[in-house]
Formats: sequence, C-alpha cells, structure tokens
Amino acid sequence: MARTLVTGGTGHLGRLVVPRLVEAVDEVRVVSRSPHASGDGIEYVVADWTTGEGLTEAVRGADVVVHLAGDQLHNEATAQALLRAVREAGHRPHLVNVSVVGAERVPVRTGFDRRVLGYMPSKYAAERVLEGSGLPWTNLRATQFHELVLIAARGLGKLPVVPAPTGWQAQPIAADEVAARLVELALGSPQGRVPDLAGPEVHTFRAMIRGYLDAVGSRRPTVPVRVPGGASRAYAAGANLAPDRAVGKQTWAEFLAAEAGPGRR
Ligand SMILES: NC(=O)c1ccc[n+]([C@@H]2O[C@H](COP(=O)([O-])OP(=O)(O)OC[C@H]3O[C@@H](n4cnc5c(N)ncnc54)[C@H](OP(=O)(O)O)[C@@H]3O)[C@@H](O)[C@H]2O)c1
Repeated sequence: MARTLVTGGTGHLGRLVVPRLVEAVDEVRVVSRSPHASGDGIEYVVADWTTGEGLTEAVRGADVVVHLAGDQLHNEATAQALLRAVREAGHRPHLVNVSVVGAERVPVRTGFDRRVLGYMPSKYAAERVLEGSGLPWTNLRATQFHELVLIAARGLGKLPVVPAPTGWQAQPIAADEVAARLVELALGSPQGRVPDLAGPEVHTFRAMIRGYLDAVGSRRPTVPVRVPGGASRAYAAGANLAPDRAVGKQTWAEFLAAEAGPGRR
C-alpha cells in the first residue's frame, strides 16, 4: 500500500487524518517545522518551508502527499515550496490538497482585507499552484470547521459585550468528517477538483456565537459590528457557503453539546 506524506499533520485536521491513514497504509510520514517523537506508526521529519531544507527528503519516496499545511496568508508560498521539493525528489506523487469553499469568491482589494481576510485568496492561489503543477492531484474544498468557529467564539466570548460581524454567515462542518473524506481521496486515484464538503446548516456568525454563549451559560450580550471591505461583504453574501453541498452530518448544536458546556468554556 502507498507510502503517504502528510504536511500539516500536527495541526487540528492533521491529527484527525494521520491516525486514519496509519490504519490504512503501510507508511505514514508527517512533515513538521518542529521535531516530534516518531512512534505509533508515524515517522515525523523536520523541514524548513522557507529554505526548503528537509522538505525534499521528506517528500522522497511518497506515493501520496496529503497537503494540509497552511496558515492565514502564506498558502501559495507553502504550495510552491512543496512543488519544488517534489520536483527535486524527482517523482510524481498524488497530491491531495485541502482548500476552502468559496476560495475564489472572496475579493481582497484593500490592505485591511488583505491583513484580516486574506485567507481565502491565499488558499485559492495555493490551489492554482497545485493544479498547474502537472502532477496528479485531487482538491477538496471544505467549509469552516466547527472547531475554528469555537476558537473564535471562545476568544470573543471573554469580552464583556461580544462583537459579531454584521451579516457574516457560515456553514460549519466537523473536521473529523473532512478528515474521513480526505483519507478516502488519498486512498483513491487522482480526481482533480471533487465536490465541496459543507456542513449541514447555514447560520449567521452572530447566532453561532449566541449558541456558544448559551451553551456555556454566559448571559453576555452580542452586538453586531460592521466589518468594512469587500471580503466582509462577501462573507455576508454567503460566498463561503455551499448550501447545495450540505452533506456534513454533525450540526453546530450537536458539536457544542459535545465540546462546550457550563464547565467547558
Ligand atoms: N480550519 C478550518 O475551518 C478549515 C476549513 C477548510 C480548510 N482548512 C484547511 O485545512 C488545513 C488544516 O487546517 P487546520 O485548521 O488543521 O490548521 P492548523 O491546526 O493551523 O494546522 C496547520 C498545520 O500546518 C503547519 N503550518 C502552519 N503554518 C505553516 C507555514 N507557514 N508553512 C508550513 N507549514 C505551516 C503547522 O504544522 P507544524 O507547526 O508542525 O509545521 C500546523 O500544524 C489548512 O490547509 C486549512 O487551510 C481549514
């Protein structure tokens, strides 16, 4: 069975993907910017994505690369670094990439948009790097993970009055469901862009924050806050949604019941 490299395997999604891969393939290697102890069927290797040091060795011998490494703004450079390493390693692994629903639909024109909401265009640019690579690829776009919304709600929920961007919507999905689909794709043949994976329900961001506050027993009020810029308008218009692909199972309320409660803020 295939030797699989996972980039970003230490992250939230990666920690759900990697154990599934360990069950399914012979060799799982995880590349990280920092050292981790190998074990439990996982070999960790360190790489510097800026200089490329260690990346070519990490990629060498992989039949499949599941590319999850990413951050807010540097996804294009990360994809380019991965491609350079693949070329230097001199073979043609199947690249399985995770991206985000609406990646091309959120415009970033101003400095404010770029700094605060540049994630979507950055993911879109990364997609184009991988799709133009000439290598076999599969790209899955998912909506925001419940866990990401929870992190935001926890942060905002500490404020005495909780700000919620006016009109922003989301269709959150369980990261574990995305992980399962990615592993299925990694075990299969390259498919190009596959149908999006979106959560079962669309909510306003404000309603989700209210749901979190209620779940943890907080009576703090939410207040709508207008976030300027075209990217914010795009979120309000639903650019990050895929209602026709609402195939996710776990709802936001079910996730909150499992992950947040009066003692678990
Ligand atoms: N969170 C969401 O709602 C969501 C929705 C759709 C798609 N996605 C995509 O899913 C992937 C994983 O998301 P996640 O929430 O699991 O992210 P995460 O927890 O932040 O993990 C991402 C991992 O990528 C590595 N990384 C971060 N910045 C990097 C950089 N500049 N260069 C190279 N490696 C870097 C880190 O690993 P090391 O520190 O070990 O190097 C980190 O553990 C990302 O590509 C993200 O865009 C996320």
